[in-house]
Amino acid sequence: MRRIGILTAGGDTPALNATIYGAVERANERGIEVLGIIRGFAGVVDPRLPHVRLNPLRSTIPELDPCRGGTLLGASRTYVDPAQTELLNEIKPRLAQLGIDGLICIGGDGTINGMQPLSEMFPCVLAPKTIDNDLGLNYIDEPSEWVLEHDHPGVHGSTTAHARETIALEDMINFATPGYATAVYVVVQGVERIRTTAESHRRIAIIEVMGRDSGYIPLGSSYGQPDIVLIPESPIDMDHLEHRVAELYDMQKHVVIVVGEGVRDQSGRQLGAQTKSYDPAGNVVYSGAAEELKRLLAMRFGDEFFGSRRKHESADSVIFTRKVGHTQRGGRPIKFDRFYAAQLGGKAVDLIVENKNNHLATLQWSAEKGFYLDSLPANKLRDPFKRIHPRRVHPSLYDAQRFQPSTLGKEYLRTMLTNAVGAEDVEDIRMSTFSAGKLSSRYQSVNLDIHQRIEVLR
Ligand code: F6P
Repeated sequence: MRRIGILTAGGDTPALNATIYGAVERANERGIEVLGIIRGFAGVVDPRLPHVRLNPLRSTIPELDPCRGGTLLGASRTYVDPAQTELLNEIKPRLAQLGIDGLICIGGDGTINGMQPLSEMFPCVLAPKTIDNDLGLNYIDEPSEWVLEHDHPGVHGSTTAHARETIALEDMINFATPGYATAVYVVVQGVERIRTTAESHRRIAIIEVMGRDSGYIPLGSSYGQPDIVLIPESPIDMDHLEHRVAELYDMQKHVVIVVGEGVRDQSGRQLGAQTKSYDPAGNVVYSGAAEELKRLLAMRFGDEFFGSRRKHESADSVIFTRKVGHTQRGGRPIKFDRFYAAQLGGKAVDLIVENKNNHLATLQWSAEKGFYLDSLPANKLRDPFKRIHPRRVHPSLYDAQRFQPSTLGKEYLRTMLTNAVGAEDVEDIRMSTFSAGKLSSRYQSVNLDIHQRIEVLR
């Protein structure tokens, strides 16, 4: 193996550069040249195949900074559909012209689907990433539990019965995906900051976080000590919720609720409005769960509830919503993400060299070994109908009565996050936030530097 390609597909995460860095450093050790393909699969389908040499003379280019969020290669949600045979037939000779012997795709479930048809033509492996933490399984035979049912938005027309009442953390495939820890870190800060203002103004704050159909981000937000955590996997019992909110409001004069963007009511209706996105995993874009929840709570409480508590404001102004939004997907990655993203990037290079076509690198955990790297054939994630599902928070990780993580859920979070922030992360905040030089210099975009390095096929 002399030359490999690498690309970043789907939504970005703060740890993508760290993964690329880990891959390039491992490639340097193995004497392999790495070409970074610009803008994910959009670069692959571009006849000019724009690319960048990431390690000329086997030394990593300085623009590749593992501490910097985003991806210096650029990302896109473009994917190659297996049905586009003409396009696929054009891609193979194009990559051959570049002399690429294998391709590392950094991505999530949508990326595996995009990689599949390419892996039938030449070696491809996946290095995982997603802030949603939904690329993986609760246990290895989980995909066999999916059965075809009525079309249910967001769960791809099939559903799972969760045959196991509980899970063992050691059995999880991909304990955590790079990007998740940083997203949780950002959300926790947001929750803590909204808390004190809700507290002062005696308001009910509803904070919407990302994660699509998976509730790992709201689950992790528990470190910010929200009063109520709502995850998409657990349909909301509105009576129970109303009762709990009233109880908390009476007790502490304010309430903080974190809501995952994909939450549903008991009839299965998604609270957030949705529009189709473009990736073949069938992922949908959600927005509006917090607003809808506010509407439902305001309707149930009415202005009288707050009036009778000497809060002379309407329900509409007492209850407010905030989205953490894309801040949870950007910026500097924290230590846990940087370290394991780089390790997974290195592992992806090993997999390519070992000819493990269509495999993904995984981050596993056991009480005995702690975190360790492994790999899995990508098809092991597929259900009997060949679909890959976002990993859902297993019911045993969440206590729907208390709207909080269960005992096992807390253990899961502690295992990963207790030491996830490094001393250097804290030092970075101290040194860089109000660095005087920032006032006199413009933001220097990595896109400008990389642009100088882009080469195209002639
Ligand atoms: O999958 C990552 C993710 O950040 C989701 O949590 C979110 O729903 C979606 O991407 C947002 O996508 P976009 O950035 O394309 O709006």
